[in-house]
Formats: sequence, structure tokens, C-alpha cells
Amino acid sequence: MRIGVLTGGGDCPGLNAVIRAVVRKGVSTYGHEFVGFRDGWRGPLEGLTRPLGIPEVRGILPRGGTILGSSRTNPFKIEGGVERIKANLADNGIDALIAIGGEDTLGVASKLTDLGVNVIGVPKTIDNDLGATDYTFGFDTAVNIAMEAIDRLHTTAESHHRTLVVEVMGRHAGWIALHAGLAGGANVILLPERNFDIEQVAAYVEKRFQTQYAPIIVVAEGATPLEGQMQLSSQDKDAFGHVRLGGIGQWLAAEIEERTGKEARTVVLGHIQRGGTPTAFDRVLATRIGLHAIDAAHDGDFGKMVALRGTDITRVPLADATRELKTVPPERYTEAEVFFG
Ligand code: F6P
Repeated sequence: MRIGVLTGGGDCPGLNAVIRAVVRKGVSTYGHEFVGFRDGWRGPLEGLTRPLGIPEVRGILPRGGTILGSSRTNPFKIEGGVERIKANLADNGIDALIAIGGEDTLGVASKLTDLGVNVIGVPKTIDNDLGATDYTFGFDTAVNIAMEAIDRLHTTAESHHRTLVVEVMGRHAGWIALHAGLAGGANVILLPERNFDIEQVAAYVEKRFQTQYAPIIVVAEGATPLEGQMQLSSQDKDAFGHVRLGGIGQWLAAEIEERTGKEARTVVLGHIQRGGTPTAFDRVLATRIGLHAIDAAHDGDFGKMVALRGTDITRVPLADATRELKTVPPERYTEAEVFFG
């Protein structure tokens, strides 16, 4: 078989580990050939390819980012997009496509499956918010980066008797904030799943100062206060209609400073959470996911996504992958609340 591989959406530590596993097993065990499509769906849309064989995947296991490049191109938003993809796949002699991506990339993969394209999906997101899999690779790395930042911020916050607000990624799901906040001993964790009361947050901050410690607040970028609108630094939207978030951390610091009379500052971790080398956990998960993705392609089991269930890698229908966003359940947030204030 001749198999195309692409990576779409926001990049994520572990993407290269998946590509390597797919190619290594695909060539050595099954004798398949590979074509790398560049920059997500833009690759098959515009016929942008690059060679992808064992020499091209040497040494990429620990590398962050993706050797294939990525984009948020949505072919369903482009006139004649699907026909162009089908024509370019045929021109390149592609029998099957392995699409590595999150909600949006896999949503496109699912629709293309319905239109007769042979696709296998691989779940990817640092946000860990895909319903059909227990964990996504990249999440563990992002949480560790955020935890390390929180550890460092504790000592400087205490030296200056100030509140430090740490804004982490998480548009609709607060998994990174919850795990990094728990691991880093945050005094308050604010998630998109639960609108917060700024008065309560200010009270937690006051309580923390009374115990001679400095408060650390971990806030997901998609968190919103009870009484106000979501705070946005920009209203720009990408091709999938997502507003570019960022700004809730700054807003929080200003409100806390006003209510407590003590200095509050914000650190926005942003893309640092997505860059750089994956943790051992993510390298192993991404490698196993890649090995199972090439098995699924070899079996001709198209329209499926490989998923982690417990410690096993399974296959689920692509349509299930994007049906439901996996958000933080209320009882998980309640566990963390024991440590607030
Ligand atoms: O999907 C992962 C994610 O990290 C989100 O948490 C975040 O909102 C988004 O990507 C931002 O990505 P970009 O700046 O590349 O659009």
C-alpha cells in the first residue's frame, strides 16, 4: 500500500514519535510506502508532499513539533476542497491516509470517510479533551511544563508577597489547569467547566496571605467569571471558527489587586506548553498509538481512530471520536477544591 500521513491543528509533543512508529512498522513489518503531506489538510488539498521513509524518521523520537508541519486548514470551508483532495490523493497513488489531529482534523477525517476516502485517525491534543480516548499524547508534557512553571512561581511569589496568576491552555476543557494545579499545589484552580465567583477567588487569596504564603492561581484560558463575559484579547477566528483566547489571566490579576489591595501579576504560559521534547509517558503513548494506527491501515479497517482505553490501544469509529468533548466532571473539580484557599 501507499499511505499518506498528515498532522493537523495545533502541534503537540509526540507527533514525531507517532510518525516514526507508523513508518518504522509500516516499512519493516508490512513493506508499505509512505508519502508525507505537509501542513495538515493543506497538504492533500494543494498536493504538497515530502518524502517519508525510514531515513526521514531517524532521530525524530524526542523532537517536539512535527516534521510534516501543521495548519488549521479546513477543506470543507474551501470551494471544491474535497474534490481537490480526492484528485491529489489519486495523483499520488495514495491508498490510505493516516490523519493525526484533534477535534477539527478528525472531524474532517470523519466526513471524508463518509465520502469514500480511506482514513485512519490518530487522536492528538495537549488539551486531553477528546471523548473516545482516555488520554491523548502531549497532555502529560504540557502538564509537566505547567507544573514546573508553578513550582518556580511559588518561590518568587512568596519572596514578593504577591499573587501570581498562571494562565494555561484549555479552551473548553480544564484538564491542563486541573492536573498542573493539583501537581503544583495551586491555591485556586479555575476551569471553563465551572464559572467562578471573583469574590470567592479574592477570599481564597486573602486566606492564603494570612498563612504567610503567597497565592498561586491556575486559570484555564477558557475560564469565565460568574458575572461577566469571557475576557478576550482579540476576536479573531481561525478556519474552524475558534476565537483566539487569552486575557482572562490579566483580568483576574487586576480584579484581585483591586479587591485585596495587594499586588497581583500574570504569567501566560501559551505555546511553551506545546513546544519542545515530549515526556517519556508521551513518547511511549505516541509510539504505541502509531504502531496500532499502521496495523489498522494495513488491515483496511478505515473510518476508525486508535484510542487508549485503560492501558490498551483499541479502535473506535472516527465518528465517535469527535461526538463528545471530554470535559472535567464536577466531582473531579470537587476533589481539587479541598486544597483551595
Ligand atoms: O488545541 C490545543 C490548543 O493548545 C488550545 O488549548 C488553544 O486554545 C489552541 O490550541 C491555541 O492554538 P493556536 O495558538 O495555535 O491557535
